[in-house]
Amino acid sequence: MKPSILAMSLTLLLASPFGEARVIPDTTQRPAPGNEAEQTPLSQAGYSSSVNYRLQCLGCHLTNGEGSPRNGIPQMTGFVGNFLKVEGGRAFLVQVPGSSQSALSNQQLADLLNWMLREEGIAGGSSPENFRPYTGEEVEAYRNIKIKDLPGLRRNLINRMETMGIHIPKAAMPSP
Ligand code: HEC
Repeated sequence: MKPSILAMSLTLLLASPFGEARVIPDTTQRPAPGNEAEQTPLSQAGYSSSVNYRLQCLGCHLTNGEGSPRNGIPQMTGFVGNFLKVEGGRAFLVQVPGSSQSALSNQQLADLLNWMLREEGIAGGSSPENFRPYTGEEVEAYRNIKIKDLPGLRRNLINRMETMGIHIPKAAMPSP
């Protein structure tokens, strides 16, 4: 670690309110005996998309993408593919924080979205018939562009769906 970075992290550490101190990992902690092997980062682990979904997405989106509308997590089941039918929706599915800030590589994220969006996936037939799978390169191009007004953009995309006559389930419009 460069000295300047060390100084910066120390400043941040000292500046944190005490209430947050407990979330800072204990740097003196040793792995449990027998568990000393270096951990493989998820982006290199080579798990299937369904395992990656369980590890990175299920906590919020639940097993079949049903989400938790009361907690602000929209339903994706049988609906999420509709985003691909409106302009801007294709980038949106990559740029939402859950996707873009996941620990997955670009290719893994492309595979996971394709897995969700196929006919038998979470999207359950809501994807357009001519659905073109994401590639790792496409994900890379969208991923680092930050959405400025996420709720506004989402509302806009949903409005566009409505004008196309697409049914919007109540659970797709969650209120936390
Ligand atoms: C911390 C909770 C959380 C996690 C973890 C999470 N998401 Fe999300 N996701 C949300 C919320 C909330 C939204 C609604 C848009 C927003 O506010 O980000 C959303 C929206 C989405 C959407 C757009 C659908 C819509 O209706 O807006 C996609 C696609 C998506 N998430 C994919 C993923 C994937 C893939 C993962 C795992 C790699 C993931 N999410 C992990 C909370 C989460």
